Amino acid sequence: MDLMEIKEFILEKTKSNGEIFQDQLPTSTKEGQYQFDEWGTWVGSFWTGLNFLCYEMSKKESYLEVARKSRHRFKRRLYERAETLDHDIGFLYSLSCVADYKITGNEEAKEIALDAAKLLKGRFREKGQYIQAWNVWDETDEFSQNNKGRAIVDCMYNLPILFWAAEETGDDNYRRVALAHADTTAKYLVREDGTAYHSFVFDLETGEPKFGQTHQGYSDESCWARGQAWLIGGFAYTFKYSKDEKYLNMAKKVADVFLDNLEEDFIPMWDFSLPSKENHPRDTSAASIAAASLLELSSHLSGEEKEHYYKWAYQILESLYNHYGTQNDAENQGLLVHACGHYPAKKDLNCSLIYGDYYFAEGIARLLGDTEIYW
Ligand code: GLY
Repeated sequence: MDLMEIKEFILEKTKSNGEIFQDQLPTSTKEGQYQFDEWGTWVGSFWTGLNFLCYEMSKKESYLEVARKSRHRFKRRLYERAETLDHDIGFLYSLSCVADYKITGNEEAKEIALDAAKLLKGRFREKGQYIQAWNVWDETDEFSQNNKGRAIVDCMYNLPILFWAAEETGDDNYRRVALAHADTTAKYLVREDGTAYHSFVFDLETGEPKFGQTHQGYSDESCWARGQAWLIGGFAYTFKYSKDEKYLNMAKKVADVFLDNLEEDFIPMWDFSLPSKENHPRDTSAASIAAASLLELSSHLSGEEKEHYYKWAYQILESLYNHYGTQNDAENQGLLVHACGHYPAKKDLNCSLIYGDYYFAEGIARLLGDTEIYW
């Protein structure tokens, strides 16, 4: 694959999008046009992260300016609308503020990110040893009520901001809760065979494990492809910050499940446990998250193992570009099509998702050796 050609494609499309989007936060596309959310839901920072990547890949200040244009939204949300935040504080403030601090040393970004990390640490439940994922969004609904005791696999990718905060502040509590959450995930959310529950509910009073349950997957016992992808990176980064081999082994175990279940074009169906694949979509966002995560995993390995995961990441990225890239569709604002946001809710189907686009760009920037890693 021609990495320089792909880099130009990412830079060009992000540049023209930036001129249109200004300070808005894109989420998913409808008919090739990005939709926006005032606060960015859980995904607002993937757009800023994409612009930070483009800045690193090009050294052009204009990307840095776009990456910072929406800063006021992240600040207002954290300091005035904190009730709208949940465990995805990690995503939101890693790629908006930690990234800025790591690349440019911006002090304001560092302070915001540290405040965000503190809020995330506050979601740790000592009874049960997990970070509470979601807030209760409907007092009358049982699933939502259970959110008080719910941990989800996606949260593994929110741990790096805690490890970063531990290093910046010297407060080891950040690290303690991140490691405890990773251990709880490995014990209860990852099944014996390496597949995972999307979420797991714990008893609020005792912290005892209760049951696994899905929200975005096919069924409670199924293996949701994007959840599996979040785990690969989540455990790889936990190894990066802890150097404890058990997390590296867990990253390999969940990665192997992901790779064993890919379709012939190296892209997964949206869930790995569908009784029939007919009329079901693939999810390119899961593929791009996995590709960037496999490169992180590979970076901690040596010899054949290193090659193995690197090769898979390369093949996935190549297929994403060749079969799902919008390089020949100038009108489409996404980088990749055929992402699947929330199949059970029939939301964001067959579209571009800003996080799918971000991880694709991260994967390419990594192959080029063009980026500091923000996680
Ligand atoms: N973190 C939510 C998702 O992957 O859709």
